[in-house]
Amino acid sequence: MLTPLPDDPRLGGRAVRRIVYDERTIARRVDELGAEITDYYPDGELLLLGLLKGSIIFFSDLIRRIRRPLQVDFLVAASYGDAMESSGTVSLVYDPETRLAGKHILVVEDIVDSGRTLDRLMGVLGTRGPRSLDVCALLHKHVPSSLPVPVRFVGFDAPHEFLVGYGLDHAENFRHLPYVASLV
Ligand code: IMP
Ligand code: MG
Repeated sequence: MLTPLPDDPRLGGRAVRRIVYDERTIARRVDELGAEITDYYPDGELLLLGLLKGSIIFFSDLIRRIRRPLQVDFLVAASYGDAMESSGTVSLVYDPETRLAGKHILVVEDIVDSGRTLDRLMGVLGTRGPRSLDVCALLHKHVPSSLPVPVRFVGFDAPHEFLVGYGLDHAENFRHLPYVASLV
């Protein structure tokens, strides 16, 4: 957990404290998650819904590790703005056009913190008659006060720090880091 930070030009000199999950660690875990998801689903249509923008890199890696037919679409929910703490409001900015009824729906999220984003989303999606509705999150902070959203697949139990990289941002920066790092 205390991998020294490389001299990475992607950071532009910004203060990033340490690498929490390096590229190889993430790739190994994504492989495992892909296998778990492949085994979990019975026959039937499977639709993976990536929550933009944070899930983009995880999503694109994960779907290539799932060895069965599937379809993809995206959701946009805005909750954080530039702040490092959840503002408490979640709005659905883009709604998937694909029909959800009768399909296995797997929502793919970058990180679960307060659980508010997912709580709101699951409420909305649940009314659309999916055959099943589950969540796969790369990271889960397991905050004691968080809403009890059932997350069936979790990549890593994350430390209670502000994390960036591999899709996660701070004020839209750092999404392109190939590893997950902690901000100072
Ligand atoms: P929640 O609604 O509080 O669970 O927050 C979930 C959303 O907040 C995630 O989809 C992220 O976009 C963002 N978020 C939560 N924690 C972090 C973090 O440590 N780094 C970057 N984004 C975060
Ligand atoms: Mg975000």
